[in-house]
Amino acid sequence: MSRSLRLGILASGGGTNLQTIIDRCQDGSLDASIALVLTNNPDAGALNRAREADIPTICINHREYATREDFDQAVVGALQAAGVELVVLAGFMRIITQTFLEAFPQRVINIHPALLPAFPGLHVQQQALDYGARFSGCTVHFVDSGVDTGPIIIQAVVPVLPDDTADTLAARILEQEHRIYPRAIQLIAEKRVHIDGRQVLIDPPSPPTEESLINPGLEA
Ligand code: GAR
Repeated sequence: MSRSLRLGILASGGGTNLQTIIDRCQDGSLDASIALVLTNNPDAGALNRAREADIPTICINHREYATREDFDQAVVGALQAAGVELVVLAGFMRIITQTFLEAFPQRVINIHPALLPAFPGLHVQQQALDYGARFSGCTVHFVDSGVDTGPIIIQAVVPVLPDDTADTLAARILEQEHRIYPRAIQLIAEKRVHIDGRQVLIDPPSPPTEESLINPGLEA
């Protein structure tokens, strides 16, 4: 029997992506188990979600560390002690250092609420609105030394609607995050994901769900 992939999930906030991954592990559609939920924020809702599911948690408060490297070393130590094989950033609002990446080479993934390479960084739903983009979405990517620059595994697209606020757009994007993050993790668990430079190859390939989206729509 194949052993399920051991995940370490890092979250700073409410943890809806964490919840989806918990649910998919529990219903058996994700061939993974969560070895540790780690947060930098003692008030993160993610902590309660993990405790409810009997998943080990740890809070490592970045404010108690003098440098980013010191903080990352503590995080890496906790992940290694838990036997984590894949690090999943799920709303983790800290920048990862080289120390971290060297401990988990090509083994750190992130979800970002925009269609990278458009709108990296923070407040990205507002950025998409301010720009007048017709589409936004979400991206799961490997983490490299840049900010939201690593090779892209999977993306989902949503329309930006005329009455959108940052909150309504964020909610529409979040629904898709909950679909694509478990999918990305499952592809990795199945060892179907290979990095070739900037390209992420899925083997065997998995065709897109839709051919195209047009916004505003074509009129008949
Ligand atoms: C999600 O929208 C995620 O994409 C975003 O934080 C939110 C966390 O929601 N991540 C980033 O902006 C990373 N730079 P959640 O706590 O409900 O999963």
